[in-house]
Amino acid sequence: MKIMEAADYKSMSRQAANIISAQVILNPKSVLGLATGSTPIGVYQQLIDWYRKGDIDFSSVHTFNLDEYCGLSPDHPQSYHYYMHENFFGQVNIPQQNIHIPDGLTSDITSECAAYDKRIVLMGGIDLQLLGLGNTGHIGFNEPNESFDKMTHPVALKDETIAANSRFFGRPEDVPRYAVTMGIKSIMQAKKILLVVSGEGKAEILEKALFGPVLPLVPASILQMHPDVTVVADREALSLIRLHGLI
Ligand code: GLP
Repeated sequence: MKIMEAADYKSMSRQAANIISAQVILNPKSVLGLATGSTPIGVYQQLIDWYRKGDIDFSSVHTFNLDEYCGLSPDHPQSYHYYMHENFFGQVNIPQQNIHIPDGLTSDITSECAAYDKRIVLMGGIDLQLLGLGNTGHIGFNEPNESFDKMTHPVALKDETIAANSRFFGRPEDVPRYAVTMGIKSIMQAKKILLVVSGEGKAEILEKALFGPVLPLVPASILQMHPDVTVVADREALSLIRLHGLI
């Protein structure tokens, strides 16, 4: 595991965007796994900026998003379809047919999940998976104590995640209770993983994830077992790890 310390959020975003940009320049047909949440927004902004300057071309890239809420239509402002369109897809040249996001409105969730996994396999797997870190240690929407052995599947969100994400919805009761997410097994099959983490609020969970025991209680701890993980985190997020002399 490689840990890159950035001075602040902007620099974290730029460093992470550089890794994605290098991936796409070296292999224009890259299959990217993408994430939502507030942390990767700066990464997307930086990539959009370089795209506008003509430094990067996404026309042959394919993307698979990690997760989506159940029950929100793609035009709901808090759906991850909407987020991705607003923050990235609507501003770069990834062809619509190359974009894949789990369908949270399906009436047949089992078939949707199996089809999603199959599409990833047909594309040759994910070359680079971008991840954020949830306050509970979740990656995608794989909550604590979820089995490490799952591919794409439906999940019930933990109260803590509903509370954390209610800042986007206004009221906790408006946050969907269920979501569909790539599983830990799907994430671990990505060839490379890029984890972005920012802010003091994530310092404790980041230390547990990177240096604690590998346990389903801390889903992100499984990343310690992946052969090619880069963590790009700002100083605040790495503060406890540094304080304890672990880097
Ligand atoms: C959501 C997403 C995760 C994301 C997490 C952290 O729950 N499903 O993929 O990593 O939020 O979000 P933030 O970056 O806003 O802290």
